[in-house]
Amino acid sequence: MFAKRIRFSSKTLNLLGTNMFTRLIGSKAERTTVYFSISDRVGALENILKTLGNLSISLTSIESRPSKTKGDYDFFVDFTAEPDLVKTALKEIEKKSKEVRIVSSGDDDAGVGQVPWFPRKISDLDSFAEKVLSYGAELDADHPGFKDPAYRERRQMITNQALTYRHGNPLPHVDYTENEIKTWGIVYRKLRSMYKTHACFEQQNCGYSENNIPQIEDISKFLKGRPFLFRLHWLDYSPSYGIAIQPAPFYTPEPDVCHELLGHVPLYADPDFASFSQEIGLASLGASDEDLKKLATIYWFTVEFGLCKQGSEIKAYGAGLLSSFGELEYCLSDKPKLLPFNCEVMGVQEYPITSFQPVYFVADSFKQMKDEVKEFATSLNRPFAVNYNALTQSIEVLDTKDKVLRYAAAIKGDMTRLISAIDKIVKS
Ligand SMILES: [Fe+2]
Repeated sequence: MFAKRIRFSSKTLNLLGTNMFTRLIGSKAERTTVYFSISDRVGALENILKTLGNLSISLTSIESRPSKTKGDYDFFVDFTAEPDLVKTALKEIEKKSKEVRIVSSGDDDAGVGQVPWFPRKISDLDSFAEKVLSYGAELDADHPGFKDPAYRERRQMITNQALTYRHGNPLPHVDYTENEIKTWGIVYRKLRSMYKTHACFEQQNCGYSENNIPQIEDISKFLKGRPFLFRLHWLDYSPSYGIAIQPAPFYTPEPDVCHELLGHVPLYADPDFASFSQEIGLASLGASDEDLKKLATIYWFTVEFGLCKQGSEIKAYGAGLLSSFGELEYCLSDKPKLLPFNCEVMGVQEYPITSFQPVYFVADSFKQMKDEVKEFATSLNRPFAVNYNALTQSIEVLDTKDKVLRYAAAIKGDMTRLISAIDKIVKS
């Protein structure tokens, strides 16, 4: 029987007799992610893996999750192969599965075949969403709603909205219940009363009110101009875009709508903070597992639990702090240890996930954070650099001479405008 969520190791794949865990990087070979769905019965998966092995296809990863259809399981396999071989593989999988399709196929980027697949444009997130959302699908036993069938049903409904959303469709609307709005109001009043003294000045009023939980469409309009960034973030957390149940308004073990809207959204309205967050995202594309761990840790100590100087004072800006009365008070007391912002140190700092942080990092400003994380990203080990093209809203992989020259030409245009603007200011 299949585990609920598994990631096979190379050892397991080799045990299956398929010897699959090597990368194939050929001039015509494309990085491909294939989805297939099969019934939960002994030998079903092994059958498909053996078929791929017989075709000499080397998988680089395989993930599973329970299917929407009861008793079935969905799989995502990544491999690099030439297009004809991919077609043959699809035909073979089709014979042995209920459904099969290509989730994404690669390109001719020179270095990209050497790293795990990553999204390049907003629509890529449609296929990626199923992978991301599956990680938050299960409720932990300590969740206040664990034994509440109505809460579980509500949570599943919101998750399904995120799962079925596709780029270009109207953003889903949630009709919040009276109890949910009441919970929001309790949390909103308590937290807002603390922000004046504890929150960083970048904590802006986003037009929220205690009687109304904003819709995701309202937030999207508020953060206009940062759709890619926001969508990434939204996908990360939309499984929990619900709200704590009424008996426990001050406790939720997972990020909820209060965490997202009161903690994260106001910061993304700040251009330096939004750039900082985007730099972490760009640095993560194609990064090694070791570097990804460092970037995730930096994210933890900044976007979730960061402190920042404000004049002679220190204030909180991390969403994990801005959405927790207890930790917001604690982080500015004399109990925790405060260290200066430093990506190298932060990236390897240990931290607990179920208690208040013993260590926080204090930045001088969001601009310092943005500049230093950019510098840190250049030290990471990956075979190419990436750039986010705001015009096409896509990720450009700078791994060939032509692409670098095109990028240089675009920067040259910006530099010309910048010099002209400086020139006019100086002359005026
Ligand atoms: Fe968060």
